Amino acid sequence: MSFTRRQILAGLSGLAIVGLGAGATSRYWLGRRDGPAGHDYELIAAPLDVELVAGQQTPAWAFGGSAPGLELRVRQGDWLRVRFINHLPVPTTIHWHGIRLPLEMDGVPYVSQLPVLPGEFFDYRFRVPDAGSYWYHPHVNSSEELGRGLVGPLIVEEREPTGFAHEATLSLKNWHVDEQGAFVAFSVPREAARNGTLGRLSTINGVPQATIDLPAGQIVRVRLLNLDNTATYRLNFRGNAAMRLYALDGNPITPRPFGKDYWMGPGMRVCLAIKMPAAGEEIAVRDGPVRLGTLRSVASNATPGDWPPALPANPVAEPDLDNAEKLNFNFEWVGSVSESVGDKPPSLWQINGVAWDITDKTCADRPIATLKQGKSYIFELKNMTQYQHPIHLHGMSFKVLRSDRRKVIPYFTDTFLLGKNERAQVALVADNPGVWMFHCHVIDHMETGLMAAIEVV
Ligand code: C2O
Ligand code: CU
Ligand code: CU
Repeated sequence: MSFTRRQILAGLSGLAIVGLGAGATSRYWLGRRDGPAGHDYELIAAPLDVELVAGQQTPAWAFGGSAPGLELRVRQGDWLRVRFINHLPVPTTIHWHGIRLPLEMDGVPYVSQLPVLPGEFFDYRFRVPDAGSYWYHPHVNSSEELGRGLVGPLIVEEREPTGFAHEATLSLKNWHVDEQGAFVAFSVPREAARNGTLGRLSTINGVPQATIDLPAGQIVRVRLLNLDNTATYRLNFRGNAAMRLYALDGNPITPRPFGKDYWMGPGMRVCLAIKMPAAGEEIAVRDGPVRLGTLRSVASNATPGDWPPALPANPVAEPDLDNAEKLNFNFEWVGSVSESVGDKPPSLWQINGVAWDITDKTCADRPIATLKQGKSYIFELKNMTQYQHPIHLHGMSFKVLRSDRRKVIPYFTDTFLLGKNERAQVALVADNPGVWMFHCHVIDHMETGLMAAIEVV
């Protein structure tokens, strides 16, 4: 696929140029370009000094003046129209994680658009089919760009009232900073070859040991988003509060008690209902034994409500398992046989024997699978490594069916945390034409090979 600079400068009208060059798919490109004029958000990415370490400045990069970025909100079924303006010193894009949208809005450089250069803007506009907790981030130079703070929540509100009167968003992120607040390496090869390079300072909504005030006695919808490059949080709570799980990665489930620990890999989200205890009491939000922050009950004179009913299901197509075609995806570690050359990141991981090279703009021309539009598929995911990988697909949601390691209550998601040596099956209807990234969301795994393109035609 070829792009012209005009595409960026002209915003949407440039899409017609892409469409004309896209052969059989041109009707698809052209058919999706309208939508109400104007925009709901003017979102600027720009450098911003933040105080993560007391008395020290960290040179973050921010969306909309905060890191993590401005919380964007839109109603399910409506258009989200964002004029994105790049005031960073580097090229970038925005990818809308978990949103089922047309390819040209997907934010992947050289696959769905050209990078947005410093000083340029790009108009993102698409309809959001699914309610839930999503997020947005660049797909260019991701270790550094996400690492510096270019990650933000995108909340899609249900069409109808849900029964929740209160809610809070908790964006979890670790920062790669030292004691002076200066950035350290976002990715180092020996860590990229293992669990990924961890940041040392954990924050909620950009604040270390944040305290979030919530109304005593009320049931609060708490959205937790893992916007970190690397960390899988072993999420648990301490305190005197009943809690129930309402949604995983945006998609509603039959509400159930929260349980003990929830392993939330990079890119994953959970939606909880928490019945806040009496005023003055606290709930610790923890990663394993480590406290990340605190939910504090503050006096409220609202009348306590009851547990809301399950959230309405999203309109995701149900895969036809009896007629689905099976595809195997093997995730392998190949670190021992390759080394980095010059600026190029090392090649450490492969999917089905192929490593993605982030310096090669043509990788997406060689998809590892071609799916037929409208057909159902079962993906057999096989982790042949000693490390866990949050496996993420763009453009479509999939249903997790089973695993050889744990009991699965089938649910729809966009990111599945594949444990070490685990085998799992997920299924989908290939209902969105395009070339979709399929990758591990540990950013330095993705940048050292663990990414591929899956095409739907
Ligand atoms: Cu958050 Cu390519 O994804
Ligand atoms: Cu994504
Ligand atoms: Cu990985």
